[in-house]
Amino acid sequence: MQLIENLKNEEKQWIITTIDLWKIYKSGKIEYPALRGINMKIRKGEFIAIVGPSGSGKSTLLNLLGALDRPTKGKVIIDGIDISKLKSNELAELRNKKLGFIFQTFNLIPYMSALDNIEVPMIASGIPPKERKERARKLLELVGLKGFEKNRPSELSGGQQQKVAIARALVNNPQIILADEPTGNLDSKSANEIIEILHDLNKKGVTIIFVTHNLNLIKYCHRVFWLKDGLIEKEVEQNVKD
Ligand SMILES: Nc1ncnc2c1ncn2[C@@H]1O[C@H](COP(=O)(O)OP(=O)(O)OP(=O)(O)O)[C@@H](O)[C@H]1O
Ligand SMILES: [Mg+2]
Repeated sequence: MQLIENLKNEEKQWIITTIDLWKIYKSGKIEYPALRGINMKIRKGEFIAIVGPSGSGKSTLLNLLGALDRPTKGKVIIDGIDISKLKSNELAELRNKKLGFIFQTFNLIPYMSALDNIEVPMIASGIPPKERKERARKLLELVGLKGFEKNRPSELSGGQQQKVAIARALVNNPQIILADEPTGNLDSKSANEIIEILHDLNKKGVTIIFVTHNLNLIKYCHRVFWLKDGLIEKEVEQNVKD
């Protein structure tokens, strides 16, 4: 019995597990295996970096971890849920409740103010307008953009736009943040500011998984997964100082 309990507790520490994850893209008769059997386990509260050459499968992997795409073979288990068993509306709910996404190109709605952009995901979750505004204001302040509520994306710098996108990713209190090259379009000062924000979130317990090309930005990461040709080439633990 003790052994089973221990095993169960062992399992509970993992927020994401992948089992022999494959993604084969098909175009016509040509098949391209972008991921060739990825096994990874990510602990609750970890800060993880995924690095590797262009085309190694980083974005493909992140999209599978975030339930944005389905694997050709293998499993992704998020917080104990085998997501291959979920219907598409259940997947959408899981994404909305547990996950926050940040992309290289910010993906803000150009004709909406910073505040309105942050409110968008809360409309889908049925949060009343007054509470939406309040929460959006608090989040904008959290990312250091108090006073920029009314600015549209074109009236913000790249770094500021990414901060708005981070605030938007946080609206439903996600347990996990997935970020695909969140600093790829930014100068080094803004990139560092974004990493500091992610680090602060991580210290509050949010699990962070981010893809980067820039090894200067992985100093807060507990583990770094090196991808090559669709496989994990190595996994490096880092001693992180706060
Ligand atoms: N929708 C798709 N259809 C066909 N092939 C794809 C598709 N998406 C990605 N690929 C291929 O799969 C491989 C992995 O792509 P992926 O975008 O995951 O790489 P990446 O590591 O994120 O690269 P980068 O650093 O350039 O962003 C590449 O060879 C790519 O051409
Ligand atoms: Mg990519």
